[in-house]
Parts: sequence; C-alpha cells; structure tokens
Amino acid sequence: MTGERRTAESMADQHREISISEFFEKNRHLLGYDNKIKALLTIVREGVDNALDATEEARILPDIYIKVEEIKKEKYKVVIKDNGPGIVKKQIPRIFGSLLYGSKFHRLKQSRGQQGIGVSGAVLYAQLTTGESTKIISSTGNGKTHKYELKIDVKVNQPKVVREKVTEDHDNKWHGVQITFIAEGLYREHKQSVMQYIKEVAISNPYANIVFDTPNGRVEFARGVEKLPAEPREIKPHLYGIEVGILTRMLHETKARTLQTFLTSEFTRVGRLSAMDIIKNAGITRENLQTGKEEPDFNISPKKVKHNMRVALVDAIKEVKLTRPPTDCLSPLGADAVQVGLKKELNPEFAATLTRPPEVYRGWPFEVEVGIAYGGSITDPTLMRFANRVPLLYQSGDCAITKAVGQVDWKRYGLAGDKMPDGPVVVFVHFASVWVPFTSESKEAIANYPVIIKEIKLALQDCARKLASYLSGMRRAQAIKEKKEIFERYAGETAAALEELTGEKRKPIEEMIIKLVEEKWGEIVKAINGGEPETPEEESPPPEHDIKEEGEENGESREGDAGEHKEAGE
Ligand SMILES: Nc1ncnc2c1ncn2[C@@H]1O[C@H](COP(=O)(O)OP(=O)(O)O)[C@@H](O)[C@H]1O
Ligand SMILES: [Mg+2]
Repeated sequence: MTGERRTAESMADQHREISISEFFEKNRHLLGYDNKIKALLTIVREGVDNALDATEEARILPDIYIKVEEIKKEKYKVVIKDNGPGIVKKQIPRIFGSLLYGSKFHRLKQSRGQQGIGVSGAVLYAQLTTGESTKIISSTGNGKTHKYELKIDVKVNQPKVVREKVTEDHDNKWHGVQITFIAEGLYREHKQSVMQYIKEVAISNPYANIVFDTPNGRVEFARGVEKLPAEPREIKPHLYGIEVGILTRMLHETKARTLQTFLTSEFTRVGRLSAMDIIKNAGITRENLQTGKEEPDFNISPKKVKHNMRVALVDAIKEVKLTRPPTDCLSPLGADAVQVGLKKELNPEFAATLTRPPEVYRGWPFEVEVGIAYGGSITDPTLMRFANRVPLLYQSGDCAITKAVGQVDWKRYGLAGDKMPDGPVVVFVHFASVWVPFTSESKEAIANYPVIIKEIKLALQDCARKLASYLSGMRRAQAIKEKKEIFERYAGETAAALEELTGEKRKPIEEMIIKLVEEKWGEIVKAINGGEPETPEEESPPPEHDIKEEGEENGESREGDAGEHKEAGE
C-alpha cells in the first residue's frame, strides 16, 4: 500500500465542475458516436435534421445536398448544404462551437432537434478523431457570405474560431448553410447506414429534394409533393404534465403577479375558473381580516408560494378537469403524403396508410401515423421507425414502436410472422410530438409509454386489416384465374369427346364451349366466391379507456375518433 489515507480536506482539492463538452468528450457514445459506421450516420443526421428543421420553419421547400467522401483510409469529408434561411453571423460560433446551445429546447413545437447538442456534437467528434476544425459557410441571402472555421474549447464549452472571413457579392442570392466536417468514419450501405437513413428521410419528407454524393457515385431522391406540411404552432405546457420541480422554477421565473394569473397565463387550457378550483383544492388560503375566516388566496404572489403549497398544487391539478392541449402544435405528414413517400421510394404493389387523431402523454400532445406497404419492389420485411419525421435506425429493441408492432397479431391478418409480418412488407410508423420522449441523447428510441404503444397498435391494426382484404382479394383473383385456365384446357378435350359421340366437327364445339364460359364467367365467379369471407376476422382493439393517462379524464368526448381518421387507401 502506498500513499496516505485521504481526508475530506485533501479530497476537496479534486472537486471541480465538469463542462458539458468534457462530459461528452468522454461519453461520445451517448450522442451516437460509438463506432465508425454509426458516427458517419450521426454526423449526416445532425446536419440534415437541422437543414430540414430550418427550411420548414422558414417555409422553404428543402433542397439538400450531402456528400460523403473518403479522403484517407477511414477518414472522411462530410458536406451538408441546405437552402434554408441561413444563420446570422453572430450566432454561428455558438451554434457550432458550444454544446447545449439552440433555439428549440425552450419551446414546445414539433421539430427534429430539441436538445441543442446535435450539430455541435458532430463538431466535437470531428475534432476528437482527426483534430480538424469544422467549416461553416452561411448566408441569409443579402449577398454577404460568412465563412468560419472553428473548434470547441472543451474546458469551457465555448467556440474557438480558427479562421473567419466575409465575402460580398450582391449578385449572389444564395441563402442557407453549408457545413464541412473532417472526421473518422466508415462508409457502408447496409440497414443502419447513411444511405438507409437518407432513403427513409425521402419517404418521411416527400417534399424534400435530396442529392447524395456517396463514395460510390451520386444518388438522387426527387421531391414527390410540392407542398410543405402545415406549420406547427408553439404551445405552452399543459398542467397535467407538471411536476413539483418544474412548477417551483416556473413560479420563481414568472412575471405574473398572482398565482391565479400564473396558472392561466403560463399554461395552456387553464381558464379562470379552473385556476380558482385548483387553488381552492390545494387549500391555499389567507385570513379575511374582516370576518376572521380563512379564504382561498387566489392573489398570492407566485414568489410566496411555499414548498408545501406547491406539493398541494400538483396534487390538486390531478383533481381538476382540464381540456386537452391544442393540437395545432403538431404537424403530421398526413395519410396521403405517407402514401406518396412510400410509393416513390419503395414502389410497392399496395400501400395502406392512416393518421390517428391526436392523443396526450404526460400532458404533451402527440400523433401517430402508420403505413403498410406490400409487394412490388419490396423484398424483405422491414420496420421503419420515425420520430418527428426523423428515421430511427438504432436501439429498435428499446423502442415503443417496435413493442407495438410486436403486439399485433399479424396472423389474424393473413400475414405469417410473429413480432413482424413476414414477406415483402414495409411497416412505417411515425410518432409526432412537441416533445419526443427519447430514451437517450442520441435520439434513437421512443420511451414505452402505454398510451403511445396503444395508439400505434390501433393504427397498425387498421392498416393490417386493409392489407388483409387486399391480399384476400388477390388470392381470390388468383384462384379464379387458375379455374378459368382449367375450363379452357378441358374445352378441347370435351370437344374431342363430343366429336366422337356426335360426329360434329370438333373445332366449332370447342369455340362454343369457350364462348359459353366467357358469357357465363360472371356467374361462375360468383359461385366460386360463394363461401369466401370478404375480410378476415377483426382483431378486437383494446377498449378505448383501458389505459389511464393524464389528460384522459377531462370529460371530452373521444367518441368521434373513428370518424376523424384521415386515411388513404390504395
Ligand atoms: N442549417 C441550419 N440552418 C439554420 N439554423 C440552424 C441550422 N443548423 C442549426 N441551426 C440552429 O442551430 C441550433 C442548434 O442546432 P443543434 O445543435 O443541432 O440543436 P437542436 O437542433 O437540437 O436545436 C438550432 O436550434 C438552430 O436554431
Ligand atoms: Mg439539431
């Protein structure tokens, strides 16, 4: 044994703060950089997700260019260029040079990014693995183009600008961002690769035009719809999702003068009467100086709401019926766009798609859409998972989507397979929400909230039913075709026998039989069809209210749900 025994005092010398960049420098796997193949995918994904977020927010049809080039063994140059609004000069260094800096974390609106560690994480990975800085070129369309080369000063989580330059050319109206990373990686084209990600992006963002220069040549993904999905609105949090910690901070930060106005102004769907009910039920009172009685204290200053009152408020919220959060903060693709996406990239023989009505988990609205594509150019069974239009390629086993797919009894729909339908089937599931409950920072899997699983399952069952009825129609048509061929084959033999019996010429008899079969074919088909059921037995969906989620007991009728489904058949 060496060294002396440590004391609290000597150990105190080693206590110090850790910068977020240092943290992720050691834990880059948490951001999706755990191997070289995945690292390339993560870099491209962070760049493309931002490009799509920015173009959509600026209401521009996205034109995205991606290049992955091997410049030395396992060392790649990755370029991502968009036609978005660009980034103002002042923001460029911090966006790319400091982790946890972004515009999306503090708002509630459906977008791909949310944490603010996406693209700066890629800058960090590039500098860790190759020591190279990242190049950013940006213009807002005013003829000025800003060029930056930067790194992250990991100790302080601040940008370190290596070079910066501005060029002016007023004939150049380009706006957007172009980023060039030099990083370690490995380019492969398999199920969890950059190529698969871009292909799935093209399905879930059919309004984007994407050009991808791979190390093996150019691949283009043409735009399939000329319209962006509806712009999602920003909303305030809903009280059903509130916990004591967040309530405490919000009470401290609010500009509201009274508890009642705090509740009505900082949260969505809280009216004056609901706010008063909550305060009453929480037992927050003060003495009426004239009567000497305790009365509800609606006007108490938010700063004076003490710990026990905050706990009582959170309990009281559960007892009050509030309307569900508004859902215009969501922007699903719509069943028709999902159809277009699936058809243009997969060329299936059949596709059924469906968008479910919005639901709520922990006070956050979400919406599920599903598509099942079958046959045609599809060869293998594939599950495609998406969160806010971003393909999820890893951690499938942990994801609520995979769980829901596994819970569907596919055999009931005439599809072999246990957890996933077998055969040439692509199952597409899109989860859209103002806050996606990812299981980790690398944003790969959706947490298993029962209400989320239930919604996905209901949508899958509906599409599976449509596929089943298509397939049974196909099987029937095939059986009928075979029967007709048999009739035709026997027409010759029957005519030969009749010739022998009657002495009449064989050819005209054969022609008569074929003509007769043609004429009576409708009736024959009906007779063949007789016993076959139209659609297979339905798998009974779980009762609507078997899973209680916050926000469900608000008295709002969910009856109309079935009628609200936006769907698209074949
Ligand atoms: N291509 C781009 N065009 C415009 N703005 C961008 C672009 N890329 C990033 N940004 C801005 O930089 C911020 C930080 O990006 P990022 O680190 O990926 O975090 P997040 O996407 O989670 O917010 C974004 O919130 C956005 O405001
Ligand atoms: Mg991002």
